[in-house]
Amino acid sequence: MKQEILRILSFNKGNFVSGEEISEKLKVSRTAIWKHINALREDGYIIESQTRLGYRLVKKPDLLLPEEVRLNLNSRIIGSEVKYYSKIDSTNTEAKKLAQMGEKEGTVVIAEEQTGGRGRKGRAWNSPFGMGIWVSVILRPQISPVEAPGLTLVAAVAAAKAVRNVTGLPVKIKWPNDLMLNSKKVGGILTELSAEIEVVNFIVVGIGINVNNESFPEELREIATSLKIEQAGKEKLDRVQLLCELLHRFEEEYFAFITGRQKEILKQWKGLSDTLSSIVRVIGPSSIIEGRAVDLDETGALLVEKEDGSVERIISGDVSLRSIPSKDV
Ligand code: ATP
Ligand code: BTN
Repeated sequence: MKQEILRILSFNKGNFVSGEEISEKLKVSRTAIWKHINALREDGYIIESQTRLGYRLVKKPDLLLPEEVRLNLNSRIIGSEVKYYSKIDSTNTEAKKLAQMGEKEGTVVIAEEQTGGRGRKGRAWNSPFGMGIWVSVILRPQISPVEAPGLTLVAAVAAAKAVRNVTGLPVKIKWPNDLMLNSKKVGGILTELSAEIEVVNFIVVGIGINVNNESFPEELREIATSLKIEQAGKEKLDRVQLLCELLHRFEEEYFAFITGRQKEILKQWKGLSDTLSSIVRVIGPSSIIEGRAVDLDETGALLVEKEDGSVERIISGDVSLRSIPSKDV
């Protein structure tokens, strides 16, 4: 009911809608409507009420409330169920718990703040309240575990396209899981897998995008940025709009992935890549390889051509990638 009232007020944003009209449309009493309006106010909506005129939505809260997400979402499966937290340790950890208990494909976990946000290899992901998009998606594709890294490509393409569509900013993808803007990190992807030897139980894809952050802790200042910092005007971005666009693009790329259209994803990934054709140093647990990043294969592995002309296939697992000026090779 709250959702329906919000739909009516949002549709008429800026104009009054009478209590009578809402009550007729939704077939509930005007007292019930008044109660739901108050509940919306408690959520942070500013709703003006005037005798004879009714209710008017003045301002929405800057939160990723599930009602707002549902109202603006264009996807069918991804985001069909939204679990929303004001504060949580990590949306990936929560999504894994839910998936373990049987939560369906497409459910997303969103938080305003993560106290234990994670990057790869257990590194911390800075996730302050209300500043970014910290979201995890539960997937149950019928694929073999070796194909799972392909979902990091799906998420990277979806996130880069969503940011470009909403802000026009030229976000690029740094292999394997970073979103870059003006050579700084603006987002990242963490794909986690639960599988048997040959079958996937579920996959959780976590996406973090720094949206309205104005500053970063000392240790990130040189390497991190946000969409707000990089855009020309300095007004806050609409996180709900960006999240909904992200989930929509994610669904589009995910459908391509599960219907065998990997080539389409790869082609887009290559067009958005910050890594291909640059000289890289790949730091693995036991070796370091240097060369030119020449291509990406079907599984998402990076192909690096060394000085002697041989090509190494790098899988994302444990490696770190650094771009280096060519004279250093
Ligand atoms: P590598 O080159 O080794 O892969 P990486 O930067 O890609 O390094 P990840 O594990 O993918 O490493 O990402 C985690 C790192 O991202 C953290 O160690 C920190 O340096 C950085 N980081 C943490 N929070 C943020 C944030 N909100 N925005 C940008 N960067 C962040
Ligand atoms: C990285 O660059 O290493 C990946 C960062 C991924 C961060 C996102 S935020 C939502 C989800 N929950 C987490 O704990 N991590 C991912």
